[in-house]
Amino acid sequence: MAKKNTSFFCTECGTETLGWQGKCPGCGAWNTLVEAPDEKTSKSDKNSRSDAPAFTANAFSWTDSEATVRLSEAGKLDYKRHSTGIAQLDTLFGGGITEGSITLVAGEPGIGKSTILLQMAESYKTDGDIMYVSGEESPAQIKMRAERIGVTRDLLICAHTRFETIADEMKKTMPALCIIDSIQTLYSDKITGTPGSVSQAREVTAGLIRIAKSNNMPIILVGHITKEGSIAGPKTLEHMVDTVLSFEGDGTGAYRILRTIKNRFGKSGELAFFEMGDKGLTPVDSSKALLLSGRPMNVPGSILTSTLEGSGAVPVEIQALVTDSCYSNPQRMTSGPDRNRVAMILAVCEKTLSLGLYTKDCFVNVIGGLKITDPACDLAIALAVISSAEGIAARSSALILGELGLTGEIRPVTRVVKRILDSAQPGMTTVLLPGSCKATIEKILAAGDTTDSKVLSGLEFIYADNLREAVDILFA
Ligand code: TYD
Ligand code: MG
Repeated sequence: MAKKNTSFFCTECGTETLGWQGKCPGCGAWNTLVEAPDEKTSKSDKNSRSDAPAFTANAFSWTDSEATVRLSEAGKLDYKRHSTGIAQLDTLFGGGITEGSITLVAGEPGIGKSTILLQMAESYKTDGDIMYVSGEESPAQIKMRAERIGVTRDLLICAHTRFETIADEMKKTMPALCIIDSIQTLYSDKITGTPGSVSQAREVTAGLIRIAKSNNMPIILVGHITKEGSIAGPKTLEHMVDTVLSFEGDGTGAYRILRTIKNRFGKSGELAFFEMGDKGLTPVDSSKALLLSGRPMNVPGSILTSTLEGSGAVPVEIQALVTDSCYSNPQRMTSGPDRNRVAMILAVCEKTLSLGLYTKDCFVNVIGGLKITDPACDLAIALAVISSAEGIAARSSALILGELGLTGEIRPVTRVVKRILDSAQPGMTTVLLPGSCKATIEKILAAGDTTDSKVLSGLEFIYADNLREAVDILFA
């Protein structure tokens, strides 16, 4: 009997190994390797890659067909974009959806992926047809939802899960936009493995990329991810697609945050905020989604800061809770900021002020579920922790910006003026900045009559060079 060949893929980073291992050699994640049949031994061998027609899944990259050329001889891309009809979504895509592009919309089940795509199918600017491929819901179910959110466009609904059938339907109808909900439900005959397995998802995605590129048809894929990472590995698909939009947060509240994780046709890091209501998702202002309007005033542990995301800055509230621990290993929990970064900030706080944090549990949250990686929020996290540990409220009206160094020095932040202008809130009167930003601010204030200086002149600026100085000023 022939030996069954299998490979193992990491659902976090897509690394392939020959045998199972507890820890992924690529990204170091534990328990993320899943078994997948080796494509080389599957039925796909019967069709060689070179003579595969455009509508098959039998290729890993559409670029295989291109001959090697000199850079100077490479053709010019003149890609056309189509507006989604929702301004916030257009920004995420870098100014509309590019023809022939392939996008992955990832998020936990129930967060609103089908809803936003159905809304987009309604407002998308095109004269052509829009195809909605659903492997999860029947046409009747889709109709019910579409009626609820007010979709009037006569969409083409294709309720199939076999890739070859879907490809034939696409070939017949040549839609102007195709939405696949979801990639985990699709399978190809060319390869063994159950729908949703890493090899199936990768093979079907490769086939869809080929269709998108050879027909200039934008395709949007839905990919479910779970809290632990992913079952069928949309993570492994991220490097294959052009654009990745991801829902952030747990989706339990009314607000949803959508972020561009990757974009070959625009900036990554762009954010859009939505509110889930009876009629689907409505775009909202970031302050509303991040609950800044309901922010507690004059209580210990709450600090306002600003994080740079994509082309703009977003104001965020950092909350910290520091309490006596009943464990031998005190807990360190974060939701929003990176756990290791917070550990570093706690160590700097301890070294500077001897707060006794080694006997205390520390919780640090970003309100609204936004993930932050911007080091300019370091000082705000440190001050929120100190405020909670000492039980003293910081000035609620202050915006805090600054990166912390290991010696407790406050390092400069980038695009400081943009952050202040984008984060100005009702009631915000003071801005605490690194000492090194003083020259930038004073230069703008000295200019006098610009719009920037008009906003800045209404604010009080205070500067600090290290954590101790910042504490003395803010808790005075
Ligand atoms: P859905 O788009 O089906 O999530 P996903 O495709 O990411 O799995 O959204 C599901 C949730 O959204 C569900 O819990 C119901 C809720 N919802 C509303 O509150 N209002 C609406 O108008 C719609 C369409 C959904
Ligand atoms: Mg869905």
